[in-house]
Amino acid sequence: MTSSSVFAGLSPQAPDSLLSLIGAYRRDSRPGKIDLGVGVFRDDDGATPVMACVKAAEQILLNGQPTKAYLGPEGDIGYLDLLKPIIFGDAVSHEVFGVQTPGGTGAIRLACELLKAARPDIRMIVGAPTWPNHTQILDQLGIETVAFRHYDQRAQRLGFDEMMAALETARAGDAVLLHGCCHNPSGADYSLEQWAAIAALVARKGLIPLIDLAYQGLGLGLEEDAAGMRLVLAAAEDGLLAYSCDKNFGLYRERVGALYALSRDADTLDLAASNIRALARTNWSMPPDHGAAVVRVILESETLTTQWRAELEAMRVRVADLRQRLAKAVPALAPLAGQHGLFALLPLSPAQVATLREDHGIYMAGSGRINLAGLTVTNIDTFARAFEACLQGEPA
Ligand code: LMR
Repeated sequence: MTSSSVFAGLSPQAPDSLLSLIGAYRRDSRPGKIDLGVGVFRDDDGATPVMACVKAAEQILLNGQPTKAYLGPEGDIGYLDLLKPIIFGDAVSHEVFGVQTPGGTGAIRLACELLKAARPDIRMIVGAPTWPNHTQILDQLGIETVAFRHYDQRAQRLGFDEMMAALETARAGDAVLLHGCCHNPSGADYSLEQWAAIAALVARKGLIPLIDLAYQGLGLGLEEDAAGMRLVLAAAEDGLLAYSCDKNFGLYRERVGALYALSRDADTLDLAASNIRALARTNWSMPPDHGAAVVRVILESETLTTQWRAELEAMRVRVADLRQRLAKAVPALAPLAGQHGLFALLPLSPAQVATLREDHGIYMAGSGRINLAGLTVTNIDTFARAFEACLQGEPA
């Protein structure tokens, strides 16, 4: 490297630890290896098949798509409109503006940029642990974060009181980042009563909720997974919702997201919308089309929507069943039974995570997060025994 190179001034960045697992697992030649890493649904053969409703919609697009011309910075308006009742329900108390984004990450990034532009000294109240990309985006944008403990990993306990205390001490105008359902990485969600209490506090303190809803339909069901966060949005003056179809439509690599801004006032929302469009333009100009077009084609068709709901429900049931089986097979993991979605945060140290990988070929995030969908009815006992051995510090 020559010191005159512009790149010489950069600091080296560690590879993303979660995404590195994809390659590490692929390179492992052991036959019984188990992949509990990145959050994708898997069937009992360990495969992540394209959903049948998606294949059907892709066929329709292949035969009938008239043009590939640009759609504009907002992306596919039909997609955005058809998702609205699924996300917000039929009775929306606010004016709503949406843009299509490249995945949930694009939506989170745009939301945080908007908040920073609106209020340069804005603070974000964030539960720990959270999805690592949340804090990385906030740090990169120079947004001050105020952390509270969302989940006690050792005790496997949701930190509801900690969150309420953090919100109680918040300043009016602070933002709060909340996972709508299927908390990533812990799987520990608030009950409807707890969401109602959060909503009351958000209203009383004048806080701005940023809801990350990336797993709708994979926890308790499409409606159930949205019910709590809807209370919070309804109670707030303004709000933002980052959505992802990557998981509930199985469209991962197509990067299918959306950002919705909500305000009680139409003029204020117009102001937000013009800024969101401008930010989208400078970030990616126009979002990728295919995945959103697939979702739109599905939601435009009653038959395909029914099929999608059934396929999503089958995925949900499979993951919930594995969760119950694991909670039953390992007494130390009994709290998992009351949690939701793809993830669970196991009470493991980084060294124990490494032991499971090196000695047993079991791959999970360094934090101890597992993707339950990577388990199968046949490998679950192998996993349970390896986990227990590791917990007791027995030689592998
Ligand atoms: C995950 O948490 O595994 C997924 O959301 C994939 C990602 O981008 O981190």
